[in-house]
Amino acid sequence: MNSTAERRYAVFGHPIAHSLSPRIHARFGAATGTAVDYAAVDAEPGRFAAALAGFAAGGGRGANVTLPLKQAAFALCAQTSDFARRAGAVNTLSLVAGGQWRGDNTDGAGLVRDLTERHALDLRSRRGLLLGAGGAARAAAFALLDAGVAELTIVNRTPERADALADAIGEPDRAHARYWNDLADLGNFELIVNATSLGHGIDAFALPFGLVARRALCYDLSYGAAAFAFLAWARAANAGQAIDGLGMLVEQAAESFAIWHGVRPETDPVYAELRGELRMRATD
Ligand code: ATR
Repeated sequence: MNSTAERRYAVFGHPIAHSLSPRIHARFGAATGTAVDYAAVDAEPGRFAAALAGFAAGGGRGANVTLPLKQAAFALCAQTSDFARRAGAVNTLSLVAGGQWRGDNTDGAGLVRDLTERHALDLRSRRGLLLGAGGAARAAAFALLDAGVAELTIVNRTPERADALADAIGEPDRAHARYWNDLADLGNFELIVNATSLGHGIDAFALPFGLVARRALCYDLSYGAAAFAFLAWARAANAGQAIDGLGMLVEQAAESFAIWHGVRPETDPVYAELRGELRMRATD
């Protein structure tokens, strides 16, 4: 086994240049007195397995995985957590005995922690609407239901994926799929989570305002420019709160850090720093 100084960590994705994860993990390391060597590695899907093997051979002990590699990471794991299996996606890899990878998914815990602790939201008894049924949506759905959301309606452009997610949840009284084209007829929701990638590259989100209940919380799993359109729609619809996924990003990183280093760092200082920077960029 390598010494602590040679243990390497990284985030793999494609593209990856703008990832905040190296900074977040460096801050966590400094705050907890943990030596952290954490890089960003660009890996196309076809090169991911080889890149990961090379990383392990060079001292890699743990990795975060982001788009579009989370399903591929799941397939590469010899062991996976129960939550990763339900989500069908892995965002946290840890090297275990025999040079094999164990996969966790900390996205769901990160989302729930941001909602319930940072934003002090009581999820129980909320009626939720989930937009999207991809990997990010799957993790969000299981985490929200585990956290006690009363009911979850899943809507996706491709209805078969929404059906597949509802089937995988297997609680027809609590979680059901509906058609995107029927959004105007679904009534209103106290929690609306955007887990689509629709916000990347569009200016306006054309959803019925009637979806937003009074004092509803609208949450986009993305942050920065990718979340602008959804959050602008939510504010125009008089949502009680319109929140991006920056807090989820920091919380999922803290969960991964805890898996690797055995200590969960404080997240508020890093969140405040990154939030301040995003605000400055938005008003440039
Ligand atoms: P992720 O892992 O981030 O969830 P993904 O699996 O590619 O990535 O899922 C992207 C989600 O955004 C899907 O729910 C996708 O809908 P489809 O399943 O129909 O592809 C949704 N999405 C992407 N572009 C969209 C658009 N223009 N309108 C509506 N939904 C869109």
